Amino acid sequence: MFSNKDIKIDIKNLDLYYGPVHALKGITVSFPRNAITALIGPSGCGKSTLLRCLNRMNDLIENVKIEGMVTLDGEDIYAPDVDVTHLRKRIGMVFQRPVAFPLSIYENVACAARVHGVNDKRSLDPIVEESLRRVGLWDEVKDRLGSSALNLSLGQQQQLCIARVIATGPEVILLDEPCSALDPASTLRIEDLMRELEKRYTVIIVTHSMQQAARASDYTIFMLSGEIIEYGITDDVFTSPRDSRTESYVTGRLG
Ligand SMILES: Nc1ncnc2c1ncn2[C@@H]1O[C@H](COP(=O)(O)OP(=O)(O)OP(=O)(O)O)[C@@H](O)[C@H]1O
Ligand SMILES: [Mg+2]
Repeated sequence: MFSNKDIKIDIKNLDLYYGPVHALKGITVSFPRNAITALIGPSGCGKSTLLRCLNRMNDLIENVKIEGMVTLDGEDIYAPDVDVTHLRKRIGMVFQRPVAFPLSIYENVACAARVHGVNDKRSLDPIVEESLRRVGLWDEVKDRLGSSALNLSLGQQQQLCIARVIATGPEVILLDEPCSALDPASTLRIEDLMRELEKRYTVIIVTHSMQQAARASDYTIFMLSGEIIEYGITDDVFTSPRDSRTESYVTGRLG
């Protein structure tokens, strides 16, 4: 489907076991750069597990066994010499509930850049501004950067969390159900934001909302019980799925 230069992340024959639980089975799929790929499927099918394989977040879980190959720009991310902190800077992650820290709006973004070695205020100021601009929050918060991030609406806090990821200079942004705690207006705002982000970044989103996947992604992966059942251009997956199980799921009869 893609030439090598279009592929940002490539997965070949990936298997993952949580102890005896075989959670990912023979996953082979590619994530194209500067596009949005949605991961859909019923609860427990392995979406979050697959997402966490991409920045080695599963390494933090005990008794996990991973087999197969994941490459970022052609390089094996599970190779023994990989600096995992650096990998997680290149592949940032946004979670289901916005986790704004009980700090000022400025500090929420600045702390992320500091973790990656930027320390002086002269360098931090433009990073904070640019990150907030990219998520469309700058104009709303520029006059109250010193006030607590916890006073922002939940939707704004999620934008702030995305700004925090952007401040570290990522290449890929992973979002695990980023809108599940948000109201419809904030959800649409995040979807618009993803369309902006894909111009610069490779975006991968897990969602339970068929409407969201259909509206906000270029490619869709449908999973069931740890396997990929269907993968393709989003419009094709939704309007002319090849597998009857995909059809059942996207029309709401399964899952
Ligand atoms: N830390 C863990 N230890 C053991 N089993 C786990 C762990 N995390 C997930 N699992 C199991 O792996 C399978 C896939 O879980 P995963 O969380 O990836 O599914 P999901 O598709 O993200 O589900 P949801 O839509 O509910 O978030 C499930 O059977 C789950 O119980
Ligand atoms: Mg999940």
